Amino acid sequence: MGLLDGKVAIVTGAGHGIGRGHALELAKEGAKVVVNDLGTSLRGEGSGKDADLTVDLIRERGGEAVANYGDVTDYEAGRALIAQAVEEFGRLDILVNNAGIARDATIWNMTEEDWDSVIKVHLKGTFVPTHHAVKHWRQLHQQGEDVSSGRIINTTSGAGLTGNFGQANYTAAKAGIAAFTQTVSLEVFKMGITVNCIGPAGATRMAASIPGAGIQAREPDEFDEWDPMDPSLSSPLVAWLASDKAAHVTGQVIRAVKDEIVHMIPWSNGNSIRKSGQRWEASELTALMNADIFKCRAPGLRY
Ligand SMILES: NC(=O)c1ccc[n+]([C@@H]2O[C@H](COP(=O)([O-])OP(=O)(O)OC[C@H]3O[C@@H](n4cnc5c(N)ncnc54)[C@H](O)[C@@H]3O)[C@@H](O)[C@H]2O)c1
Repeated sequence: MGLLDGKVAIVTGAGHGIGRGHALELAKEGAKVVVNDLGTSLRGEGSGKDADLTVDLIRERGGEAVANYGDVTDYEAGRALIAQAVEEFGRLDILVNNAGIARDATIWNMTEEDWDSVIKVHLKGTFVPTHHAVKHWRQLHQQGEDVSSGRIINTTSGAGLTGNFGQANYTAAKAGIAAFTQTVSLEVFKMGITVNCIGPAGATRMAASIPGAGIQAREPDEFDEWDPMDPSLSSPLVAWLASDKAAHVTGQVIRAVKDEIVHMIPWSNGNSIRKSGQRWEASELTALMNADIFKCRAPGLRY
């Protein structure tokens, strides 16, 4: 008995790395999986049939999977991706938005194309499959069907939640995905569908591209035993969030790094000052902001 017996899942960007780990884990727990991957380079250039690699692994291990080679940023390809799950396996329960690229550069060196392509793959690439999946479930819901098995699991990054030097495009997109998760979770709540966001990690080609990190890229199926750099260490959390056991969990951001699972607390009110119905004067803020808001000595807040 698997946690996901009878479920049908889509994992985007699942030909390699963290997405491959999720696809293998969901299949291990009994889900039938549509393995999406455009087969691009780390920078998002070119295409290929890399999804086949993961499909073959799932089938070798006795699971059921089909490949999808579509671009998650393409509106019609997104529609076709959702339709493929329903046509091949009869239903859709789980959508894991994982596909991503990186084009790291400091803000002064970042080209317009570096910015646009990274924002597009992460943000629009999360919007497009989510939009089509929710439209599909909503149509069923309006026909009186129970769609409360619907699960969307998005992918942010610790870098997106705290900032990271040289990644303005990537971190902006990843923080956006966390906000997108919160909003969409509110919109689909009444249908019983959950939307959550994970922050994974692992020795993928994306992590290996960080200058000076000294990481060698490896696929999750190349790890036989526990290793803190295994890209599939967040996959059990994804499987659990995708299951009936997590029906009560929605709108949450959870990081899973090495052996630790951490609930991220969203933006929340910190210290405040009020002026009994009067407008502040800029000149009076220096002392108050430092002493009562930031509780620090000027001029340094963070660095
Ligand atoms: N590796 C880490 O440490 C780490 C940390 C935090 C978050 N993440 C996130 O995890 C996710 C997976 O990253 P990874 O490290 O496994 O990278 P990866 O490069 O190994 O895998 C990404 C996959 O996405 C695919 N892809 C890219 N653009 C696509 C598109 N338009 N349509 C469909 N598929 C596309 C690629 O072909 C590739 O197979 C990304 O969203 C990344 O931002 C990774």
